[in-house]
Amino acid sequence: MQKGFTIWFTGMSGAGKSTISAIIEQRLRKAGAPVEVLDGDEVRTHLSKGLGFSKEDRDENIRRIGWVAELLVRHGVVAVVAAISPYRAVREEVRAKIGRFVEVYVECPLEVLAGRDVKGLYKKALAGEVRQFTGVSDPYEPPTYPEVVVNSSLETPEESATKIWATLKGLGLI
Ligand code: ADX
Repeated sequence: MQKGFTIWFTGMSGAGKSTISAIIEQRLRKAGAPVEVLDGDEVRTHLSKGLGFSKEDRDENIRRIGWVAELLVRHGVVAVVAAISPYRAVREEVRAKIGRFVEVYVECPLEVLAGRDVKGLYKKALAGEVRQFTGVSDPYEPPTYPEVVVNSSLETPEESATKIWATLKGLGLI
């Protein structure tokens, strides 16, 4: 019987967490693994509805996502999480609770993110119109020992997914 685990994508808004996680999701499905995706943008429309972007609310968001991921993993599911999760301590907290945890840091320089600005949020944040915006007016704490680092300004999403896949293999998870 297959064992569940969590793949936790962390990184700034627009770095590519959702895009890369969707590729990993497809690859896992193709390989026959049961998989569920918990994406920050989506989770915030139901499970975390009403939460804002203060440190307290972000930590609460991450704890809720972590709690669901833990349940999924316990039932043999691969939980794929894509959330900014800017604070190291709460990421470490969920890692410790879940145990089988692969942290993927999706790196991308602020200049590139601001240039892409798919949602138009960087422009607003840089103009001071969005408060507490990660990487602009709010902290982002990169992981100290992530299992994988991908860089979406240097790699295509497919290349990043291949790197992650190799790590999952190397860890004996797939
Ligand atoms: S987290 O910090 O709590 O992990 P989460 O991943 O759920 O964040 O949500 C991030 C998304 O919320 C961003 O992709 C962006 O679309 C939106 N957003 C709105 N306000 C902010 C903000 N102040 N900082 C970061 N993202 C924001």
